[in-house]
Parts: sequence; C-alpha cells; structure tokens
Amino acid sequence: MAEIIRYEQVDIHYNGALAVHDVSFSVAEGEILGIVGESGSGKSTLLKAAMGMLGREGLVTRGDIYYKGLDLPDISDKERQKISGAEIGMIFQQAGSSFCPIRRIGTQIKEMMAAHGYTDARAVEIEACELLHKFGFAEPKRIWASYPFELSGGMQQRVAVAAAMLLKPKILLADEPTSALDVTVQKQVIEEMLLARELFGTAIILVTHNIGVIRAMADTMLVLHQGKVMEYGKAKEILNNPQSPYTQKLLAAVPRLRRSALTYGQDSASQAS
Ligand SMILES: Nc1ncnc2c1ncn2[C@@H]1O[C@H](COP(=O)(O)OP(=O)(O)O)[C@@H](O)[C@H]1O
Ligand SMILES: [Mg+2]
Repeated sequence: MAEIIRYEQVDIHYNGALAVHDVSFSVAEGEILGIVGESGSGKSTLLKAAMGMLGREGLVTRGDIYYKGLDLPDISDKERQKISGAEIGMIFQQAGSSFCPIRRIGTQIKEMMAAHGYTDARAVEIEACELLHKFGFAEPKRIWASYPFELSGGMQQRVAVAAAMLLKPKILLADEPTSALDVTVQKQVIEEMLLARELFGTAIILVTHNIGVIRAMADTMLVLHQGKVMEYGKAKEILNNPQSPYTQKLLAAVPRLRRSALTYGQDSASQAS
C-alpha cells in the first residue's frame, strides 16, 4: 500500500517547552492508525502540526511530516489552503468546530466546496445529498436545509464526517471524534468512518483515549505518553500482547468484560490516570 503521510523524528515545542519528542510513524492508503494516550500527552499537537494549526506558541523544532513529498510544517499558506480539506480532512471533537451553528448546513457545504473550485451549487447539493444517503441519512434534503443548532451533537458529527468526505481526502485526521458523544452515537460515527474508508480508501489517523474505539477501528496503534512513543505497531498485537509497561497499565485499566468483546463503551484509558 502506498504511503500517505510520514512523521519522522518529530519534536514540537510550545513557547520553548517540549510537548512532543522524537515521534515517528507512517500511515498507508486505507490504513487506520489509532493514537491513544492520556490527556496532555500530545495527541492533538501531533495532528495540529500536520495542519499548520499549532498557533503562534507552537513550533515543529525537529523532524519532518511528509505528505506526497511535501514537508507539511514548511509549506506556504497557499499550498496549505489547497490541500486542507481536499487532501487532508479534519474532524474535531466538537462538531460545533466544523459548523457555524446559525447558518444552514447546505450553505456551509456549498461554501466549502466553492473554496475548492466546485462552484456548481446545484451539483454540489445533489452530490452531498447522495453521500448523506449512502451514510445512512434517511432524509438528506432535510439535513441540507437544517441549521446545525437544530441537530443533536451526534447528528452534527455524523454530518461533519460526511461533509469532510465530499472532497474525498486521502486522509482524515480525527481528533477525539466520538469523545463528546454517548455510546450509541459513538457507534454510528465509528461505522461511518469505517464506511468512508471502504468507499473511498481514505486513511484515518484517529486520536482517542478510548481503547474500545481503537479496538473497533484501528489497524495500527501508537501509544503516546508525555509526548513520547511508548509503543507502535499492529493494533491487534499491542492490544493482545502489550510490550511496554505503560501500555500494560493503560490496558489493565479497561474493564475485563469490555476488553473481551468488541464494544465501543466508555472503557476509557483515562481511567488509568
Ligand atoms: N497552545 C498551547 N500553548 C502551550 N502549551 C500547549 C498548547 N497546546 C497544548 N499545549 C501543551 O502541550 C501538551 C500536549 O497537549 P495536547 O496535544 O493538547 O494533548 P492531548 O491532545 O493529548 O490532550 C500539554 O502539556 C499541553 O499543555
Ligand atoms: Mg487533545
């Protein structure tokens, strides 16, 4: 499988303080990498570095993040605008970060598509409604015409995933996409992301503190602790036979009942802390 993104020995500082140290991994076409770690371990920082979203305080101080031969921390704003969304999609913990609450979903999707050159509003609407239908929405036209505040958080997140897939990005960066949702909706969002991979071959980097979500989705996983990689490899192998003491502790905190079954429950690793 072709490689989509590669982090090489990445260090990231905020105001001179080290937040991420010597992190390396790569993600291939259609692969789902789960990044797991306690709050503050640097998970969001890793994703933000790829998107140029570290802000004024944050800086990649060593290493590279390659996407198609581009070193992402170094590209121009113009290049970044071109690939953000279209090649690298992003899903946030709060779907509210994806949509403005008081403007219609359809209006916002049309703007997003127009910004990437898809200016035929009617064609965009048809394609968006078809995609929403594929993702299991019974009434896509109603969603298209709604305001985000009219939808539940879970619905908004499901629409955000579908909207991100309209541009058919090669990779989706998903930062705790299910953490704010209750268990049944979590399951729907997980299934939607899996379907996105199936339909479009999209790779996904999924940040979560929920081992159940990793178990349900990830091909590979990376365990992060205080900005450093504790363990990285095939998800099944690490879940069944963790090598690092930190991962062992993290997994031991997950209730046994849940560990044995394929569930998406609140068996959160943060219980370890
Ligand atoms: N804008 C920022 N300014 C200063 N420090 C930050 C900033 N964002 C994150 N950090 C610090 O970087 C570390 C990693 O944060 P983060 O990537 O948000 O962790 P996670 O997503 O795993 O919870 C934490 O110690 C956090 O306090
Ligand atoms: Mg975070």
